[in-house]
Amino acid sequence: MAEVRLKHIRKCYGDTTIVKDFDLDIRDKEFMVFVGPSGCGKSTTLRMIAGLEDITGGELCIGDRVVNEVSPKDRDIAMVFQNYALYPHMSVYENMAFSLKLRKVPKAEIREKVEEAARILQLDQLLERKPKELSGGQRQRVAMGRAIVRNPSVFLMDEPLSNLDAKLRVSMRTEISRLHQRLQTTMIYVTHDQTEAMTLGDRIVVMNDGIIQQVDTPMNLYHHPCNLFVAGFIGNPPMNFLQVELKQQDGSLYAVRDGFQAQIPAQYASQLEGRERIILGMRPDHVHDAEMMLAEKQEIVCQGTIDVVEMLGAESLLHIEYGDQKLVASMPSGKAYKPGNQISLVFTMDRMHAFDLDTARSLLYEQD
Ligand SMILES: Nc1ncnc2c1ncn2[C@@H]1O[C@H](COP(=O)(O)OP(=O)(O)OP(=O)(O)O)[C@@H](O)[C@H]1O
Ligand SMILES: [Mg+2]
Repeated sequence: MAEVRLKHIRKCYGDTTIVKDFDLDIRDKEFMVFVGPSGCGKSTTLRMIAGLEDITGGELCIGDRVVNEVSPKDRDIAMVFQNYALYPHMSVYENMAFSLKLRKVPKAEIREKVEEAARILQLDQLLERKPKELSGGQRQRVAMGRAIVRNPSVFLMDEPLSNLDAKLRVSMRTEISRLHQRLQTTMIYVTHDQTEAMTLGDRIVVMNDGIIQQVDTPMNLYHHPCNLFVAGFIGNPPMNFLQVELKQQDGSLYAVRDGFQAQIPAQYASQLEGRERIILGMRPDHVHDAEMMLAEKQEIVCQGTIDVVEMLGAESLLHIEYGDQKLVASMPSGKAYKPGNQISLVFTMDRMHAFDLDTARSLLYEQD
């Protein structure tokens, strides 16, 4: 068990800086997820923690030790990769026992540790099998088992589920959560999948282009994204963005553009005072069909044409065009929407987001 501290960590390859000023404290027993688009530096950062990449600048601490110069095997960590090659000629038991055997751990102790890990991972009936006799999910669990038997103080996982099919990923996700609760070990988990990040993480680091964008709980990332990047990356389907002008009218502030007018709630108006333009952000869940909202007498914000309807079961996603803009709205299923139909929209403006045109920073949920 240990905390992991990254103090202004930097990674360069030649003249190219891949990870910039990465400053983060990971608490003891925390489940921390690094998420971001391909190439943003997630694996590089994880590999620096593991000791598989040199650190160009900054200080890395695991527990109360500075480990920049400590070799991987002495860092008390275990890593599970995306391509967790198991030894094909060894049984599940031997695969899990292998690293302990190398370290000359006594046989009885190895047996105890492997059996304990197998119980946790529900592999106890499969210990004599070879990897080729296992399903993808079972192989994945053996890879985790190899890490667990070493009883590390920090677990590092780099996209461990990305070779599995969609259904198996969901069930393995639950198993990893359970594993974390059971082992009570610090875990750092890399993924480019925001759903995986949201469901697993105590906290999430959203990265882009080698830079930390925001470190927060899944809830806060979703409700209070600090900039356009985080707002667009977290949440599925992604948030709608619209460039709007701000106009005072009859004592209220409005967001307007061609064929579009929405009243800004009073609690946000003061924070936006003095600005002429913003980028308005609205999640698809907060865009509604005016016809379904008659009782609430909300003002119609805009009218558009339905371009595409995606049926998802409990809800339908409508891709709507109005003027030269596109919007996605998530509607509860029940009403049959058809491409080509006109639709009038209302927005839940209480849930609006606003971003600065130049800096892309959130204007409503400023972080410290
Ligand atoms: N040895 C290397 N030399 C030069 N550039 C490298 C090296 N290794 C990685 N990079 C670059 O560093 C950047 C970050 O790579 P990294 O593997 O950390 O990305 P990632 O966030 O894990 O992406 P993915 O989701 O695709 O795995 C990429 O642009 C990559 O091309
Ligand atoms: Mg990677």
